[in-house]
Amino acid sequence: MINPGGFPQHVGIIMDGNGRWAEARGDRRTQGHLAGLQAAKRVVKAAAGMGIRYLTLYVFSTENWKRTAEEVGFIMGLVKQYLRSELEFYRENSIWLRYAGDSAGLPPDIAAEIKSVCNETAGADGIQVILALNYGGRNEIVRAVKRAALAGEDCSAINEAAIARYLDNPDVPDPDLIIRSAGEWRTSNFLLWEGAYAEYYVSSVLWPDWTEAELALAIETYQKRKRKFGGVS
Ligand code: IPE
Ligand code: IPE
Ligand code: MG
Repeated sequence: MINPGGFPQHVGIIMDGNGRWAEARGDRRTQGHLAGLQAAKRVVKAAAGMGIRYLTLYVFSTENWKRTAEEVGFIMGLVKQYLRSELEFYRENSIWLRYAGDSAGLPPDIAAEIKSVCNETAGADGIQVILALNYGGRNEIVRAVKRAALAGEDCSAINEAAIARYLDNPDVPDPDLIIRSAGEWRTSNFLLWEGAYAEYYVSSVLWPDWTEAELALAIETYQKRKRKFGGVS
């Protein structure tokens, strides 16, 4: 049972295991990404129903360009095809779609599509779903420092709050819980700055097999943690 107290406000998910899911079925890796998209819809809907305010989904990392052209092209194609066709789903669930990452490194048509769908859903009063696409934590910090310098920030006044103001979504609170599916215990460059005090949860379940039950289990586990933020409880 999920206890309503100590509920995470912001959850980040490293949606991993699409390739292994497909390979285990004798399918091509791309089929895993298609199934992963359906899992993402299930989990977004479940998170919205649970009252989670912010959900950051790691869709594609700044390192994922190392994959074959076929796989990268397929993932970008899925984004292009589904981002807009799911508008009805966002509306039904009052979803505000947002973006994190280096949009300048995306194919221009995809960057434009993201921008327009984010604008069209902006201000929806339900869950804010942040798509981390061509996202890397180190890349985000580098871009933040560059923006601070370009804005003429005084170098001697640079502190943590000043850097945080130039991150991709400065109004979004730090993630309370970061989930990784498919059993790997690493961050793979996800929310490095923001996740400094996030609780981590790793599930062995491959992403395409995720349902509301896996999300509920992650949250129940989170609720048993003692967060100390460096202090003593
Ligand atoms: C996550 O699944 C999706 C992306 C990184 C785009 P993977 O494609 O990494 O699946 P595995 O880790 O190879 O199983
Ligand atoms: C992290 O998964 C990126 C996403 C889920 C989008 P990867 O599969 O790319 O991570 P590594 O390569 O196992 O660290
Ligand atoms: Mg992987």
